[in-house]
Amino acid sequence: MTTESQRMVEVYRKRAKRYDVTSNRLYLIGQRTMAYKHLALEQLALRPGDTVVDAGCGTGHNLPLLAEAVGPTGRVIGVDLTDAMLEQAEDRVRRAGLSQVSLVQGDLTTYQYPENVRGIIACFSLTLIGEYAKIVERGYEALDPGGRWVVLDYRLPRWWPDRLIPALGPMIAPFGGDVSMVQRHPWEPVQEGAARHRMLTRYGGWVYVAVGEAPQK
Ligand SMILES: C[S@@+](CC[C@H](N)C(=O)[O-])C[C@H]1O[C@@H](n2cnc3c(N)ncnc32)[C@H](O)[C@@H]1O
Repeated sequence: MTTESQRMVEVYRKRAKRYDVTSNRLYLIGQRTMAYKHLALEQLALRPGDTVVDAGCGTGHNLPLLAEAVGPTGRVIGVDLTDAMLEQAEDRVRRAGLSQVSLVQGDLTTYQYPENVRGIIACFSLTLIGEYAKIVERGYEALDPGGRWVVLDYRLPRWWPDRLIPALGPMIAPFGGDVSMVQRHPWEPVQEGAARHRMLTRYGGWVYVAVGEAPQK
């Protein structure tokens, strides 16, 4: 495991039990996390019977919504590095009785995708991973032609002055990040690898949804 991955596991093991509650605090500063997730999920354009991967699924917020979109004949796979986050996700899946959902503990840089993937979604996970471009590339290799890569994440809006970047540190630190991560641009490989792409932004440009359609092989 890389040093970065080890650090992530340490951070998210500590945060797992209270992750959902602490994430909800973002609503106090006007963020509408679930609305952004619904927007991102819609962009996957899933149909009953599809296979979809939630990359960095955390406590599994998206899993019931994805399960609904692919129906009982579909397949939802949640992948995450941190055992404690997956335990929360497992609880959620069990309580909701979602038989089409499976969970995999693994690193997205090496994860072996199954066949016939129609959609991959990564919510607030790729910016935390230095090798995000490799993850996006491997995702495109796994996606069926026309299948979609959807990334929901934060980015620095153009209007934010460089001299105020250090002020973001305390906002990023609880998620295992630091201000150097503003240089990470996961939407770029999503766009570069796509036959067609689009970008939606919310929250004054801080939040984006990047959508790429996988090309013919
Ligand atoms: C901020 S949380 C987001 C969780 C979830 N997607 C959500 O929207 O609530 C980031 C997640 O990415 C996972 N993660 C970080 N690095 C990873 C990696 N290399 N491979 C797989 N998961 C990773 C962490 O364990 C954590 O659960």
